[in-house]
Amino acid sequence: MANQLVDRFQRRITDLRVSVTDRCNLQCSYCMPSFGTTHVHRRELLSFEEIQRLVTLLASQGIEKVRLTGGEPLIRRDLIRLVQMIRQIPGVRKIPMTTNAVLLSLYAGALQEAGLTSANISLDTLQRERFQQITGFDKFDQVMAGIHKALEVGLPVKINVVAIRNFNDHEVLDFVELAGRLKVAVRFIEFMPFQDNQWSIKQFISARELRRIVGSRYKLVPLEKEALSSTSNNFRVEGQEGSIGFIASMTESFCSTCSRVRLTAEGYFRPCLHDSIEVDLKAPLREGVSDQELTELMQRALWQKWAEHPDFLASSGKVTAGPREMIRIGG
Ligand code: 5AD
Ligand code: SF4
Repeated sequence: MANQLVDRFQRRITDLRVSVTDRCNLQCSYCMPSFGTTHVHRRELLSFEEIQRLVTLLASQGIEKVRLTGGEPLIRRDLIRLVQMIRQIPGVRKIPMTTNAVLLSLYAGALQEAGLTSANISLDTLQRERFQQITGFDKFDQVMAGIHKALEVGLPVKINVVAIRNFNDHEVLDFVELAGRLKVAVRFIEFMPFQDNQWSIKQFISARELRRIVGSRYKLVPLEKEALSSTSNNFRVEGQEGSIGFIASMTESFCSTCSRVRLTAEGYFRPCLHDSIEVDLKAPLREGVSDQELTELMQRALWQKWAEHPDFLASSGKVTAGPREMIRIGG
C-alpha cells in the first residue's frame, strides 16, 4: 500500500486511534477530573459513516492498525457494527480496543466475531474497595468477568496498569502473579500528566523502580519488541506464562519511533497525544469537502507533529496536551 503518511522526521504513520465517545462508565481520577467534564452532544460525535470515510482515506495512505478507544468505547451504541465496517476497509489489518472491560463480558463474543483483534484492558488494582476508590464505581467483579470472557472467546488480552505511588505500588507483585495465572500480558504504565488529573511527582513511579520491585521476587527475561514502534519493554517471567511490560512514557521518550495519530470523538485529527495541535475534520466533512481536501488537512496537521514531547519530569508535570482532559483526547 502506498504510504504517504510520513512526517517531517521520516516517521511512518501506521497506527490510528479512534475515540468513539468522550463518555465513560467509570471516573478514574487520573483520567477524568473529579468535578466532572463536559460532554458533547451525540450529534457532535462523528457518525460511523464519517469514521469509515476517514479511516478509508487514512488506510489508503498507510494506516494498518485502527485502535478503538474512548472514553469507554463499549458504551457507544452499536459499536459492533463499527468494528464490522472497519474490518472491511482495505489495508486495515488490526483492530484492537482499549476498554475498561466493565461491559466486556456482554460483548466479547460478538466483538471477536465482528473482527476485533485484541483487547487492552485498563485495570489498576486487584482489590475491590480500591477499585471503587479510583474509579468511583463498585464494578471490579464485572471487569474480572469481562477479562475472563475475552479470554474464553479467544481475544488476546493485555492488562494496562497505571502505576501510582501510595495507591497501587503494593500490588505490583500481585499483578505479576495475575499475568501468570491468566497467561496474559500485564503492562505497567508510568503515570502521565494531563489537564486536571492530579498528577504529582509524589505519586510518580518510574518504570525502572517498577522493574526493581518485580525483580525482587521474579527473574525477568527480556522479550523482543513486538514492533519497532512498540512502547512497551516486555519480559517473560521465569517459571510462569504470560508476560510483563513496562511503558516508560515519562522517563524514556519513545517519540522517535512513534507511528501513531489520533481522531477524537468529536472529529479532531491529532498528530500527538501530548500536543495541543489538532485540526477539525467534522466541519469540513459535514460541509461536503472532497477526499482530496480532507487528505490535505490531515497531511498539513501531520507535518506539525513534533519530534518529541518535552521532559515532563523536568517541568514538574506541566501539561502540554492543551485544555483537553485525557478522556476527551482518547487513550
Ligand atoms: N497516565 C498514564 N496512563 C493513563 N491512562 C489514562 N490516563 C493516564 C495517565 N494519566 C491509560 C488508561 C488506559 C489508557 C487509555 O490510558 O489506564 O489504559
Ligand atoms: Fe474511563 Fe478509561 Fe478514563 Fe478510567 S481511564 S475514566 S476507564 S476512560
